[in-house]
Amino acid sequence: MDNKIVSSNSQPAGSPAASKGATSKQDLTSGFSRLSREERWKRLFEMGAISDKELEYLRSGAGLAPDLAEHFIENVIGVMEVPLGVAVNFRIDQEDYVIPMAVEETSIIAAASKTARWVRDSGTLTTAIKGRQIIGQIQFPAVSSFGKIVDVVRDNKQELLTISNRVADGLVRRGGGVQDFQVRSVERGDGSSQSMAVVHVLADPCDAMGANVINQVCEALKPHLELLTGEKVGLCILSNLVDTKLTQAEVRIPNIDKELGEGIVEAALFARQDPYRAATNNKGVMNGIDALLLATGNDWRAVEAGVHAYAARSGQYRSITSWEINDGVLVGRIEAPIVVGTVGGVTALHPTARMALKMLNVTSAEHLSRICAAVGLVQNLGALRALSTVGVVQGHMRLHAANLAVAAGAEPEEIPWVQAKLQEILDRDRRVSLRQAIDVLKEIRREPASRPQ
Ligand code: MEV
Repeated sequence: MDNKIVSSNSQPAGSPAASKGATSKQDLTSGFSRLSREERWKRLFEMGAISDKELEYLRSGAGLAPDLAEHFIENVIGVMEVPLGVAVNFRIDQEDYVIPMAVEETSIIAAASKTARWVRDSGTLTTAIKGRQIIGQIQFPAVSSFGKIVDVVRDNKQELLTISNRVADGLVRRGGGVQDFQVRSVERGDGSSQSMAVVHVLADPCDAMGANVINQVCEALKPHLELLTGEKVGLCILSNLVDTKLTQAEVRIPNIDKELGEGIVEAALFARQDPYRAATNNKGVMNGIDALLLATGNDWRAVEAGVHAYAARSGQYRSITSWEINDGVLVGRIEAPIVVGTVGGVTALHPTARMALKMLNVTSAEHLSRICAAVGLVQNLGALRALSTVGVVQGHMRLHAANLAVAAGAEPEEIPWVQAKLQEILDRDRRVSLRQAIDVLKEIRREPASRPQ
């Protein structure tokens, strides 16, 4: 199995990445969490995940310039920073990855890396895509005859496709574009005898997320459909419930420890059956997916909406993941709409997003989507393993103690001392508070001799 990370960085032959061709990514990321930030950058550079320019960019702490931010949104007053980290040990479809994750929550990256190592060392993580089309909706709020809408769309399909693909010409040039239409009947639910008709515009967005173009297509079709049907169109907008383009990931861990495996399966059953638990389970999945989406400049709200809507497709909100044991093999699966882009918009303009995409060496939007699904599933496994054994508090606490030290007002050189003292309290009481952090800080300042060595 190829162990080297493949990167699209711009280093010439003979650069550290090239000359270290024999060094495995596994070697270069081992002990990653214990390295200093400078050493982590160097390792990423050595494995070819970042270029020398990107190394300098990270060192400078530059990030998104407010002038560039002006091009993204209105009324810019600054930039909101979120930590950017990398999860290591991911082997997806037999390729090794360093996963960039932008997230403020403690433990997500640690849990992802730890669980990914377990999966890499003991099993497999594979992905697939089912379907290629995104959905635009053209709504007729109240039609006198649903059949008439169906007939019009069927009889004028070629003309409607031509109009659509004039708008979506960029997609057509890349091998995609609008390909089909469907007409759905939706009950109004307001007691009226009329029903709603909704035309679905199905388009292959290639490597774009396709939101803008599908909205433009729907709006362009509106006058034509009104003329052809004699009915009034209401809303024209994409759907985030993209069940026509689903991303799947599967984890398989053979010879799973019986007690551990059964604990994970039982936890999964809870999340399948109880919407209250399903929401938290799925939040854990999105911890991984959103962090990767944010790092790559993707619209995480769209993916969130789609994943949760798909989780409720049976009529009850359920877990988006499933876990079972087959012949001693722990098998976990996720299937969800994860529509992302790798060209255009923020993904192309934001320097950190550009770097994150390069770090992953993604070859297409579907490739990125598959990595998202894999990361979400592994994140879920990490949470279920912790919850069904020791609980999640233990994993959170080391960094939580560091956060408390900062919140208590510790100077950088004091943080390790406060953290060590808080760890002692944690080991004793299994919890620790800000009040205790403040007291510890006071004690350390009052009595330097009490500082842990
Ligand atoms: C916390 O951010 C995520 C978890 O609550 C997920 C879960 O409960 O499965 C640990």
